[in-house]
Amino acid sequence: MCGIVGYTGTRQAVDVLLDSLKKLEYRGYDSAGVAIVDQSIQLHKDKGVIANMESTLPRFTGGVGVAHTRWATCGRPSKENAHPFIDCSGNLALVHNGIIENYMELKRQLIAEGHKFTSDTDTEILVHLIERHYTGDALEALNQALKEVKGTYALVLVQKGSDHIYAARRENPLVIGLGVGENFIASDVTALLDYTNKVIYVMDGEVVDLSPSKVTIYDSNGSVVNRKPEVITWSAEDAQKGGFEHFMLKEIFEVPSAIHNTLLGNLDGVEDGTFLTNVDFNSVKIVACGTSHHAAMVGRYLIERLAKLPVSAELASEYRYGEKAKECPLVILITQSGETADTLAAAREAKRRGCRTLAITNVVGSTITREVDEVFYTRAGPEIGVAATKTFIAQLIALYLIAMRLGYAKKSMSHDSLRTMRNEMMSLPQVVRRVLDNADQVEQATDMLVSARDVFFLGRNINYPVMLEGALKLKEISYIHAEGYAAGEMKHGPLALIDASTPIVATVVRDQTYEKMLSNISEVQAREGLVLAIGGEGDAELEQVAHKVLYVPGVPALYSPVPISVLLQLLAYYTAKRKGCSIDKPKNLAKSVTVD
Ligand code: F6R
Repeated sequence: MCGIVGYTGTRQAVDVLLDSLKKLEYRGYDSAGVAIVDQSIQLHKDKGVIANMESTLPRFTGGVGVAHTRWATCGRPSKENAHPFIDCSGNLALVHNGIIENYMELKRQLIAEGHKFTSDTDTEILVHLIERHYTGDALEALNQALKEVKGTYALVLVQKGSDHIYAARRENPLVIGLGVGENFIASDVTALLDYTNKVIYVMDGEVVDLSPSKVTIYDSNGSVVNRKPEVITWSAEDAQKGGFEHFMLKEIFEVPSAIHNTLLGNLDGVEDGTFLTNVDFNSVKIVACGTSHHAAMVGRYLIERLAKLPVSAELASEYRYGEKAKECPLVILITQSGETADTLAAAREAKRRGCRTLAITNVVGSTITREVDEVFYTRAGPEIGVAATKTFIAQLIALYLIAMRLGYAKKSMSHDSLRTMRNEMMSLPQVVRRVLDNADQVEQATDMLVSARDVFFLGRNINYPVMLEGALKLKEISYIHAEGYAAGEMKHGPLALIDASTPIVATVVRDQTYEKMLSNISEVQAREGLVLAIGGEGDAELEQVAHKVLYVPGVPALYSPVPISVLLQLLAYYTAKRKGCSIDKPKNLAKSVTVD
């Protein structure tokens, strides 16, 4: 995601900032910029990699500054949309990570007051909002401005002619680095480790005032906070992974914020119709590859159930062989990277057939966004591990929202049921946190899988594609042969393969499939197959039929794909780890598949 660094001290700030910013390149970004404070604020930014921006950077001098790498979420990747942003008077410069939810409304007010904007970003309103309150004291103006802001942020502000840096945090990380006669601030400790290992983490709601000789932290009531510094003993590489052993595990632990950010950016649009404004189609086709195709299959159940529309889910690589239907459906293309060749080809084919197209993607400005009529962004942040984890869950969230939007717009969902679903969706980050709290139990359950040659994953209904995805995750990173099956299909062939050496992972949720899943488990038991069941908390009955049970928090069955998928991602991860596999870069696979 975006990276922030700030510096105040006796060195040339530009050298420190560029050096530190490069330590954040691994997080992925599309543009970069720097602002150095002197008698005026010197600003330089550009699209592309840091080296691009650096190659045309004038020799800025000064001991105070901020720099940023942007990963576009609001406004396409471009020089104009790169941070930092400067106010109209040139007194203030600011960088920001996060999402300002009420930026449209604030922008309208600020334009009416005469403020001039140069970008399409939500961030730019922050610097103008601070300017609105600025009478010489930047800290006071920042505090006033934050009262008007809805959303999430880690932001850093500098002021002309001052050696102070101000920062604030709400739900986006910030860490202070302590030096002697100099101080630092960054979105990620990795940026600081070449300069200091003494750090103080900023907490939610806090505002920070840094000068070369002093650090003051204020809590949300304005009282000074005294927090002891921590000494970091990690290497820079460990720090990039935030202390996790692999990017994949870090990214699984980022699922709650991926859900939260995807909801924040899009939940209001369900009612307001800011996406899918016009719903003049009577069927939907969802097209994707791999993990995204499994999300598409879950999406089919969701849209059929909530919007009562006929839906099909298709592999992008097969879509081209179909014929144009009489009536043109809405074609939804799902691709986290936005660059998968088969999905791009399907988007072009859908357009050729005259269909309306909507892409769900995680990468702003990716190729798919230029091929379709409408884009729905998941906001999971960049994913570095080759195996899709947090982006898959964010795709599911996007599909819940699209299904709700269609249900409401097509009048198959009432306003009340929409409100109930909104609240239930908002609780999902917490549901996932509880799955992550039990990661050690999932790790222990890998005893059942680690020596297996083949594993079957069984589910029914909306959890059938979830189990296809569980099998894909296991096979791609642990190299164990795994098959996902609709549980009812086992007796039509695969049961022949079951014996004491073939473990089965089965998901059993309390919906109309419950009894049938128990019978399927009994069929496996009768062939001496070992069953690892996944069920809702408190379902003691499962312990009677399975060898081992892993529990997820009890949620209505409609939402069960979310916690179950996260549990299955952990199961694949820990199995691969025990086998010593190259988890973040599995053999023969690439993060972005640009050939068809
Ligand atoms: C598996 C995985 C792949 C991708 C597939 C499509 O973990 O990541 O199966 O889902 O290559 O990629 P996108 O979503 O980028 O189109």
